[in-house]
Amino acid sequence: MNIVVVGAQWGDEGKGKIIDFLAKDSDIVVRYQGGNNAGHTVVIDKEEFVLHLVPSGILHRDKLCIIGNGVVIDPSALISEIEGLKKKKIYIDTNLMLSEQAHVIFPYHRLLDELREKRRKIGTTGRGIGPCYADKIARVGIRVVDLLEEEIFAQKLKLNLEEKNKILKNVYGCKGFSFEKIFTEYREYAKKIKKYVKNTTLILKEAVKKKKNILFEGAQGTLLDIDFGTYPYVTASNASVGGVCTGTGISPKDIHKIIGVAKAYTTRVGEGPFPTEFAVDLMEKFRLRGKEYGATTGRPRRCGWFDVVLVKYSVMVNGMDELAITKLDVLDEMPEIKICVGYEYKGKVYHHFPANLRILYEGRPIYEKHKGWLSDTSRITSFKDLPERAKGYLNRLSELLGVKVRLVSVGSERNQTFIL
Ligand code: IMP
Repeated sequence: MNIVVVGAQWGDEGKGKIIDFLAKDSDIVVRYQGGNNAGHTVVIDKEEFVLHLVPSGILHRDKLCIIGNGVVIDPSALISEIEGLKKKKIYIDTNLMLSEQAHVIFPYHRLLDELREKRRKIGTTGRGIGPCYADKIARVGIRVVDLLEEEIFAQKLKLNLEEKNKILKNVYGCKGFSFEKIFTEYREYAKKIKKYVKNTTLILKEAVKKKKNILFEGAQGTLLDIDFGTYPYVTASNASVGGVCTGTGISPKDIHKIIGVAKAYTTRVGEGPFPTEFAVDLMEKFRLRGKEYGATTGRPRRCGWFDVVLVKYSVMVNGMDELAITKLDVLDEMPEIKICVGYEYKGKVYHHFPANLRILYEGRPIYEKHKGWLSDTSRITSFKDLPERAKGYLNRLSELLGVKVRLVSVGSERNQTFIL
């Protein structure tokens, strides 16, 4: 069975952990979009692994891990991630493959990301993700396959640098980049990553024919999707399920199940509207209890109540079959728990996600209030053992969202996830 795991909120939902949980029954784990802006955390026997580009399946030795064509690759980040994992005794060899059609991030992408942030703040991770995807769409991007062809690489890089250096100088008043320096540096990277580079589209097609179990690992979340998210406060790729087909070459007919991952509350990093965002006191409480700091940038995450309007929209856009709810234990000490079921804006009530950001910024969230369960859930290993109020909370979310909650996680360790 081929399963997609997709974020139902603004990223950081705990997808890494759910992927790790599901990977044991898969043959192949595939990343389809995003880049090293992602930070998927998996904790095994108290040891923490944060994966940025390498699929989370790498932590299971017998799984093939594929970085698809829809992912943007910063080769230096990929190489240091591989080295870091190897140091932690993770086996990486022919079990990792990188699409030859994936686009490559260059230092000018990172610098432009940083400079654009100073003018129009989105709160990006500064990894050059947006500028790299912009070049891909403008048809001036450099793909992994180009990097391996010295002449083609030199030609494309020269042309790009001519343009980028002019922009850097004339628009931003910055010094440009030297061709020689980038060329030499990236030729070295090319040598190091060459062994992983494959025609992954074909490999996946063969795997589908052989009825292998493929797990697609979404990065970021639906509300950060370039088309469906809170634009322009989004990432530059299709984080929702559509990205699976364009980012791997798999047919929609070969996707069998779509699992959404949502936290039992909401978080977001960076700028943009957040209707259920907490005031200072609750914010601090959640940040501490939920360790809500970015896995990639270390930035404190903004926290708020669960927003049904947003997640219902994610359920719809992705056609989610099931939902995994993570970090339920973070709510353990809350005497009262709220669920946002709509927004009131200028006398009108909105139950569906509005494209107009003003409604999200200025609308008043309409809350359902639930009594908290006020007990420790972190050692619970089955739904039936959860406190009645925690069961009630999950059942109510399921009812409001119109989708079954099938997985629940109550802590960062592997054994703190259970199936309903
Ligand atoms: P970018 O992807 O670096 O361009 O950042 C665009 C927006 O997406 C910013 O608000 C980031 O904080 C957010 N973002 C990107 N990747 C992640 C992630 O993995 N988790 C949460 N937010 C992310």
